[in-house]
Amino acid sequence: MIDGCGRNIDYLRLSVTDLCNYRCRYCMPENRVHRRSRREMLSLEELEAVARGAVALGVTKIRLTGGEPLMRRGIVELCRRLRAIPNLQELCLTTNGSLLPELAAPLREAGVDRLNISLDTLRPERFTQITRMGTLEQAIEGLAAAQQAGFTNLKINTVLIGGFNDDEILDFVGLTKLHPWEVRFIELMPMGPCANWDKRCFLPDTAVLKRCPELRPVPAQGVARRYRIPGAKGAVGLISPMSHDFCADCRRIRVTADGKLKGCLHSREEIDLRGLHGWQLQNAIRQGIAHKPQRHHLSERKSDTPRNMNQIGG
Ligand code: 5AD
Ligand code: SF4
Repeated sequence: MIDGCGRNIDYLRLSVTDLCNYRCRYCMPENRVHRRSRREMLSLEELEAVARGAVALGVTKIRLTGGEPLMRRGIVELCRRLRAIPNLQELCLTTNGSLLPELAAPLREAGVDRLNISLDTLRPERFTQITRMGTLEQAIEGLAAAQQAGFTNLKINTVLIGGFNDDEILDFVGLTKLHPWEVRFIELMPMGPCANWDKRCFLPDTAVLKRCPELRPVPAQGVARRYRIPGAKGAVGLISPMSHDFCADCRRIRVTADGKLKGCLHSREEIDLRGLHGWQLQNAIRQGIAHKPQRHHLSERKSDTPRNMNQIGG
């Protein structure tokens, strides 16, 4: 379906939980994590109904997000049901990777097409520092499990944080020489716990190109501008919501785990889908698409959303 600004909306990011087994410093507070009651969350049946409604309106790609989507009980069954929706071309999932050793094979078997795995550092102490509770070993085991299960076109999401991991840019780019992965550097967005971090933490994507002049441009994919080291097996992607806002090319809508449709990650506007069925649900999704905000305002101010990233879905 075409939104009010002429953009073809064909991509739904569907959050299945706001729980996470990590507490990444830019994403979640350490304590006092507000735990929504089961009643507030969409059930597996409701998640499927939302997905079907969106596909009926022209969505062809769904990405499951969280929190950590693999924390959701019944996730494999949900994937199986979503994969069976006619006209859905691609089912993807973004995960921190920690639960992939148990779940990669069942997810593949359930029909998940592609995985994005978040990995902000390749140094063990830093990994535990940024996630507050994870270990690098877990993440690496998760990556290996994804490959073993037959996932190809793996993408690695690395949030660039000045003073934290900018000295690892070359290490991350180096991974693409040996592995057929796309390493995607994502600019840190000022929202939730990191909204008031020091300006120096917010590095523009040019930092990557400066550190790595061998990178050559290759055709873009979605909102990522892409590069490659000549001869490398993989590629490097730059996702730059701050320095190159891609709102004009944004094809996505989001639904939070508590059933709110958001046209834009950074907007306060939400449409409650809970309790809606059939044509009412369809109509509400249609409204959400029609009124998708034209753009975010991160160049003028912090994100307008009062939610933390784990309560929206990255
Ligand atoms: N800015 C940029 N990326 C973020 N993520 C979470 N919070 C932020 C933020 N403030 C990323 C996660 C993960 C994806 C789901 O979103 O690191 O890769
Ligand atoms: Fe969990 Fe992802 Fe947020 Fe880290 S960024 S706390 S892994 S949801």
